[in-house]
Amino acid sequence: MSDSKIPLAAVIGHPVAHSKSPNVHGYWLRKYGLKGHYIPMDIEPEKLADLLPRLADLGFVGANVTIPHKEKVMEIADLITDRATLIGAANTLIFRKDGRIHADNTDGYGFIENIRQTVPDWNPRTGPAVVFGAGGASRAVLATLLDVGVPQILLTNRTRIRAEKLKEDFGNRIQVVEWVQAGNVLEDADLVVNTTSLGMTGKPEMRVPLDGLKPGAVVNDLVYSPLKTRLLATAEECGCRVVDGLGMLLHQAVPGFERWFGKRPVVDDAVRAAVLR
Ligand code: ATR
Repeated sequence: MSDSKIPLAAVIGHPVAHSKSPNVHGYWLRKYGLKGHYIPMDIEPEKLADLLPRLADLGFVGANVTIPHKEKVMEIADLITDRATLIGAANTLIFRKDGRIHADNTDGYGFIENIRQTVPDWNPRTGPAVVFGAGGASRAVLATLLDVGVPQILLTNRTRIRAEKLKEDFGNRIQVVEWVQAGNVLEDADLVVNTTSLGMTGKPEMRVPLDGLKPGAVVNDLVYSPLKTRLLATAEECGCRVVDGLGMLLHQAVPGFERWFGKRPVVDDAVRAAVLR
C-alpha cells in the first residue's frame, strides 16, 4: 500500500454486528480529524485463513479480532507478542508493510488501565484478588494481575476443572476456590473481578452471596450491558469502589488505534457517551 492511501481497519468476528468497536474507533477518527475508516467485517471461520492475509492488499493496516476467531488468528499470524502467547488468544492485528501479520492481545492492558484510571490509588500488591470465571477473559485478567504484582488470586469457576487448568498454566499464586464457597472468601479480597457472563442482559444473575465484600475493596465487572450490574450495585451498597466493564472495552482499543491511525486516543467521558448512544 502506498502511504497516500487512506488507512482501513476492521473488527473481524462471526457474528460481528453487535460489536461496539466501530463506534469507538469511528468516534476517535472524527474527534482527531484523522483520515481512516473502521468497519465491522463478518468472516466465517472456514474462510479466515484465506481472507486474512489478503486484507493488507486491500488497504487494511490492521484489525481487531473477536469471537470466534481470537485463537485461530494465532495460527495464521507471523509474529505473536509474549502477552498474546501467554493469554492464548489475540484481539489486535497489525498488517505490516513487509506483508507479515503481527498478533497482539490488549485485553489485559485494557483491563488494568480501566482499573488504574477509575481507582488511581489501588495498589495491586497490598492484598489478594478474587476472580470469578475461567474462560478466555479470565486468562487475560489473571496474566495481567500476576504481572502487576498481585500476591494471591483466589480463582473460582462453576466448572472447577477449568480453574484448575488455569492454576496449572499460571502457577502457585493462583488458589482455586469451590464455586459454592466463593461468597466466603470475598472478605479477604482487595479486588474482585467478574469475568463470567453472569449478570449480562439476557443471562442469569450472579447468585454468589456478596454481603462479605469488604468496604473499600475494588469491584470490577467485565460485563458492560447493563453498565451497572447487580454485582456493582451490591458492591456500591457495601461501600466498595466499583469499576464497570465499558472502560476495558475502550482502553483495549487504544494500542490498535494508535498503531493504525498514528494518534494515541484518550479514554474519557465523551467516548463513553458516544459508545453508549
Ligand atoms: P470468555 O472468553 O468471555 O471468558 P467463555 O470462555 O465462554 O467466555 O467463559 C465464560 C465464563 O462464564 C466461564 O467461566 C463460565 O463458567 P464455566 O466454565 O463453568 O462454563 C462462566 N459462566 C457462563 N454461564 C455461567 C453460569 N450460568 N453460571 C456460572 N458460570 C457461568
